[in-house]
Amino acid sequence: MQASGATLSSSVETAPGVAAALLAWYDIHARRLPWRRLPGQARQDPYRVWLSEVMLQQTTVAAVGPYYAKFLERWPRVEDLAAADDAEVMAAWAGLGYYARARNLLACAREVSRLGAFPDTEQGLRALPGLGDYTAAAVAAIAFDRPAVVVDANVERVVARLFAIETPLPGARGAIRAATATITPGRRAGDFAQAMMDLGASVCTVRAPRCLLCPLRAHCRALAQGEPERLPVKAAKKAKPLRKGRAFWIERDGAVLLVRREGRGMLGGMRALPDNGWSARGDGSGEPFAADWTSLGLVRHGFTHFDLELQLMLCASPEMASLAGENCSGEWWPVSQIETAGLPTVFAKAARLALAERGERGQ
Ligand code: ADE
Repeated sequence: MQASGATLSSSVETAPGVAAALLAWYDIHARRLPWRRLPGQARQDPYRVWLSEVMLQQTTVAAVGPYYAKFLERWPRVEDLAAADDAEVMAAWAGLGYYARARNLLACAREVSRLGAFPDTEQGLRALPGLGDYTAAAVAAIAFDRPAVVVDANVERVVARLFAIETPLPGARGAIRAATATITPGRRAGDFAQAMMDLGASVCTVRAPRCLLCPLRAHCRALAQGEPERLPVKAAKKAKPLRKGRAFWIERDGAVLLVRREGRGMLGGMRALPDNGWSARGDGSGEPFAADWTSLGLVRHGFTHFDLELQLMLCASPEMASLAGENCSGEWWPVSQIETAGLPTVFAKAARLALAERGERGQ
């Protein structure tokens, strides 16, 4: 395998060897995953492939499992999901993060339902709401056996090593994609894509790759050079900014006030505790109304582009809490059932803190 785009063509002659070796390995070692049909079985329902691929973006296989099962049980077909209530879907998604995915999931289900079926080409899939290059290619390959080039983070690592691509990520993406195209087979592209993912997850790991077990060791240029673990090179990460804000625990008669966040903003469409906005400057001050506020402590949460520190404030007077409910378009949620509210993780953490602190203070 060669490193640069100019010399990739010289590796094409080895491409069938790579795909054949990898597919033979996959026939034996494919992970058994809930959304997956094993080699030789009939193709998987495109709805299931799409649902799993949307959930798997930025989220681990282990975390996705229970959500995938829950969604399929509640909405077994794309038409069921299309007809679902937005709020219910957002609540069912709570905890998976990247909530724009859930909004797009619904928009896409409705569009597919309108069309009558999933498009069966990469181009057709790419036109659906929320389907980027990766998801369109993955669904085209896995559900429809189209020879699409599927590149996720695992595939990036495998290919950067196989071709000894030295350019740091993310700049190397173009070269990695071109290199992946040279080894993607015309048949069994879905198995090939998933085999690359499995290889990246279990053999060609970030640290301590198990090269002795690798079906591609004879083709791997980074191994030949002696330091596969060094690749892919990653550009230094920028430090994440810290944002600060306040969230409010306003309780009355065993119920806490929850609001629904603005549709398009951060965590849009999700149920949440009221907050004062998250200031980039970071003083995070300001209460929603004058009352007797006490701090219950800090909640920290890491988002992709910033870290958040929320000070959780308790409204200690029941009368003021009642007044807040009247002046605020929210809903009173039974505190004893707070885990059924579908709060995104940052607010679920805040709720756990509130419950623990109330217990401590005997409130
Ligand atoms: N990550 C994303 N898609 C996947 C799949 N189909 N199998 C395993 N891991 C994945």
